[in-house]
Amino acid sequence: MKFETIAIHAGERPDRAFGAMSVPIYQTSTFVFEDVGKTKGYDYSRTANPTRKVLEDTIARLEGGKAGFAFATGMAAETTVMHLLKAGDHVISGDDVYGGTYRLFQNVMREFGLEFTFLRMNSRQAIEQAIKPNTRMLWLETPSNPLLNIVDIEMVADVAKKHKLLTVIDNTFATPYFLRPIEYGVDLVVHSTTKYLNGHCDVVGGAVVTTTDKLTERIQFLLNAMGTCASPFDCWLVLRGIETLAVRMKQHEENAMAVANYLKEHTAVNRVFYPGLPSHPGHEIAKRQMKGFGGIVSFELRGRIEVVNSFLGKIKVFSLAESLGGVASLAERPATMSHASMPEDYRKKVGITDELVRLSVGLENIDDLIEDLRQALELG
Ligand SMILES: Cc1ncc(COP(=O)(O)O)c(C=O)c1O
Repeated sequence: MKFETIAIHAGERPDRAFGAMSVPIYQTSTFVFEDVGKTKGYDYSRTANPTRKVLEDTIARLEGGKAGFAFATGMAAETTVMHLLKAGDHVISGDDVYGGTYRLFQNVMREFGLEFTFLRMNSRQAIEQAIKPNTRMLWLETPSNPLLNIVDIEMVADVAKKHKLLTVIDNTFATPYFLRPIEYGVDLVVHSTTKYLNGHCDVVGGAVVTTTDKLTERIQFLLNAMGTCASPFDCWLVLRGIETLAVRMKQHEENAMAVANYLKEHTAVNRVFYPGLPSHPGHEIAKRQMKGFGGIVSFELRGRIEVVNSFLGKIKVFSLAESLGGVASLAERPATMSHASMPEDYRKKVGITDELVRLSVGLENIDDLIEDLRQALELG
């Protein structure tokens, strides 16, 4: 089956009990045993739930992995994955990952004895030089949030295999529609399903996809032991979103490309970050490893913070809000919003300037989006 068909039919659909076309929301904490020691496959919803199972099977198939797991948030998924490690282990992470990921590593996991090195993942030599005897994991995000940097996944996975390291990729921005990292050799895929997979800004959720029986068993154990799972209703909302993922992603990309092309010619704009532009340093790698470039466009305005504030104050079709990946267009300033948890000097070092704006280009008519940007970029 092809992607669009899997997105609509994977997992137990229609449901076994009554043939419901829409996946039933099994809003129950517990399941009655048939007899002592005998269940119908489920006993307690933290461990497993039939609605969650359909979502987990669907995401696993879309990513081409072994098994999927649905979590309460993207951060819950990431936190669970980090518990594959133990005190004293070292992780090499991309330097411009989502601010919350950076905060989890620096301000939470470090307290539990994990060590981190953050670097730009674009050089095999730099990664190999950072590997220490206690290195266990490589963590990457591509395209990265918010700078849309591109990592050559095959290269990173190759380094990881050579040094027997676990590779984890955050595939939130691209989604499996545009990028299937397991085909390039990564071990685990994580998602904030809050974003494109759900697509309607009405849920927070996360997911992990595994590639081996050992990882599957351990993630299932951790999810149950730590209680980081998603609720049945939230799973249903994400499932409903995934059914239209393919058509949404195509349109997100078409609109984002038009927005990037418009912004790059605008005199108020200093730089545009979009991997679909041939001028983007990661364009060739993105073209090779992705089926499309996604719906996020970042850009730097000329001038100072006041110019950014004026722009964000004037937008009407775009909304000033955190998050991304929904049908409605959003704009935000990473320095004070999505990436505020990064210390200022670190942010500057990785290139997240005060003048940077991140757009999540939605599915509105492109003429209205461009007109909104035009009027908001007018000086005065
Ligand atoms: C790339 C990326 N990964 C992970 C997360 C965290 O996900 P959540 O907000 O669902 O916990 C986000 C949230 O913005 C994100 O953008």
